[in-house]
Amino acid sequence: MTTPTKKAIITIKDLHKQFGSNVVLNGFDLELFEGENLVVMGKSGSGKSVMIKCVIGLEQPNSGSILVMNQKINKLEQEALDELRTEIGFLFQGSALYDSMSVRENLEFPLRRHTKKFGVIEDTTPLVMEALESVGLAHAIDLMPNELSGGMKRRIALARTLILKPKIILYDEPTTGLDPITSKEIVLLMNSIQKQYNTSSIIITHDVDCAKVIANRMILLIDGVNYIEGTFDELASSTDPKVQAFFK
Ligand SMILES: Nc1ncnc2c1ncn2[C@@H]1O[C@H](COP(=O)(O)OP(=O)(O)OP(=O)(O)O)[C@@H](O)[C@H]1O
Ligand SMILES: [Mg+2]
Repeated sequence: MTTPTKKAIITIKDLHKQFGSNVVLNGFDLELFEGENLVVMGKSGSGKSVMIKCVIGLEQPNSGSILVMNQKINKLEQEALDELRTEIGFLFQGSALYDSMSVRENLEFPLRRHTKKFGVIEDTTPLVMEALESVGLAHAIDLMPNELSGGMKRRIALARTLILKPKIILYDEPTTGLDPITSKEIVLLMNSIQKQYNTSSIIITHDVDCAKVIANRMILLIDGVNYIEGTFDELASSTDPKVQAFFK
């Protein structure tokens, strides 16, 4: 693992988000430092996905500020937001591949959508192959999503994220629905990708084993706020029942 710095690449301050009377985030703070793997855990429905969607501008917060690479997300015009998004890889909960497109087409899609970063690429094959090789699935290039296992889909989704060479990767439940062995493979892959591409990541997970392997630091999202933060060992040895509940 590369050593994290103390330079923040994402800063969330006092984030509030509610849907009608359902208050989800109620003053949430987070700092992600360069080169760091930050794990966010929280109960189902606690607002983890909502928080991460606010970071990439898919949800609008009611108040609070989000800085990504020194740019204020809610102040950006669509074009600038699109450009910034090429620096942020987002792995949705589930894999969200396009079922009607082959693996190759799925990977080409972001390249065609974000022509600003790389220009118009005549031959996408080298980039597609490079991304597939980093997830160990070069041989799957011509398969369709319905021909892939759950673990393979997750890897392809990761390759599709990597193809834009993002500085930040946001993982929403990267191991959910996978068996323990495949989960472990995905976590090791996430670690090796961090080394290869020198990315900074927020990883949302329920999976304590995943957190243990990957977290440089952890945050628990409870009652809409950053309830506690620290290393895995610090949180795992906490005597606070609310914290302990996650490690049972
Ligand atoms: N677009 C939306 N409109 C209305 N309510 C929403 C919307 N998106 C999320 N919510 C609500 O916000 C709350 C937090 O949802 P969120 O998806 O962030 O939970 P989560 O922590 O990611 O849960 P899980 O671990 O199950 O994925 C839930 O009560 C959910 O119903
Ligand atoms: Mg979620």
